[in-house]
Amino acid sequence: MEDIIKDYSRKISERMWNLPDKGELESHREKTWIDDIIQKDHIERKLLSNLEGIETVFDGGAGCGRFSILLAKHGLRVTHFDISQPMIEKAKELAEQAGVADRITFVKGALEDLSAYADNAFDMVISFDSPISYTYPHQEKVIGELVRIAKKRIMLSVSSRLGSLPYLANPIQKNQFILDECSEDSFVQWLLSTRQDRIRNFRFEKARLEQMLLDGLMGGKDEIAEYEKGGAPWCITYTFMPDELENLLRRFGVENIEMAGPGAYARTIPNEILVKIMEDRQQRMDFLEFCYQYDENPYVCGMGKDNLLAKGDIVSC
Ligand SMILES: C[S@@+](CC[C@H](N)C(=O)[O-])C[C@H]1O[C@@H](n2cnc3c(N)ncnc32)[C@H](O)[C@@H]1O
Repeated sequence: MEDIIKDYSRKISERMWNLPDKGELESHREKTWIDDIIQKDHIERKLLSNLEGIETVFDGGAGCGRFSILLAKHGLRVTHFDISQPMIEKAKELAEQAGVADRITFVKGALEDLSAYADNAFDMVISFDSPISYTYPHQEKVIGELVRIAKKRIMLSVSSRLGSLPYLANPIQKNQFILDECSEDSFVQWLLSTRQDRIRNFRFEKARLEQMLLDGLMGGKDEIAEYEKGGAPWCITYTFMPDELENLLRRFGVENIEMAGPGAYARTIPNEILVKIMEDRQQRMDFLEFCYQYDENPYVCGMGKDNLLAKGDIVSC
């Protein structure tokens, strides 16, 4: 199966992220989804507290620029690298609006090939919200390459296996994080209108969960069939175990590794309460601050909502 997926994983990912409305939807995720607010807040805090001595950054799978634009606003020079031209166009538009386009170099490319970049080319390398997980079966090589081009620091977030497994036994999990039920986002409306059907049709499939616990793979045959029919299925995704990611980074020479699971605390709280917290400015600020502390605890890092975050320093420095 791995050999077949090898030919499809990148092609499926590219087609999915090239969908015309993807950049637009991605650029206002935090207006719609509470889990995205928490994840972005966590990464932002982590990023901004680790900028000492950093002037240049490579952002791999940078999307519509959530973090590349943020870093450019802090005066850094950023290479914004992504496989999708529509995502890059959206990021350019937002960078221009923010007045930082001149500090960002936009590059269309795939993480599977970073040969254009020299060893230690960037002070810091970042890749957030799973681009690495979409490069299956090349994810280990990609991490090695990202470490190679980093001089001082690396910060990644990948799909979390322990964090993603609950989705398979909770077809309404994403409903928990809807901030605005009146949102025009068609996914929100779909989640709301199909909620009861999804509960009614649900069956607990132990074998499927055990398989994913074992091989970490989400997607495969069905996605390939949909792609062949001309569709744009969700990317085939490799999910990591926390110790697997940590050991991999260590093997590539990364030290002082810190891991976190953004969203671990929030996933224990029902939607009605999350929305209430988000609607009150002070409670929202306190909540996000507390989530940052809780989700950094190594005992919960695997249970982040669906991402696993890792930060480390490059040994040679
Ligand atoms: C969920 S978005 C995350 C964007 C950004 N890092 C953020 O946190 O806002 C994933 C991004 O990875 C990009 N991507 C997916 N596969 C990729 C690959 N093989 N090489 C480079 N970029 C890729 C997509 O085009 C998309 O923009």
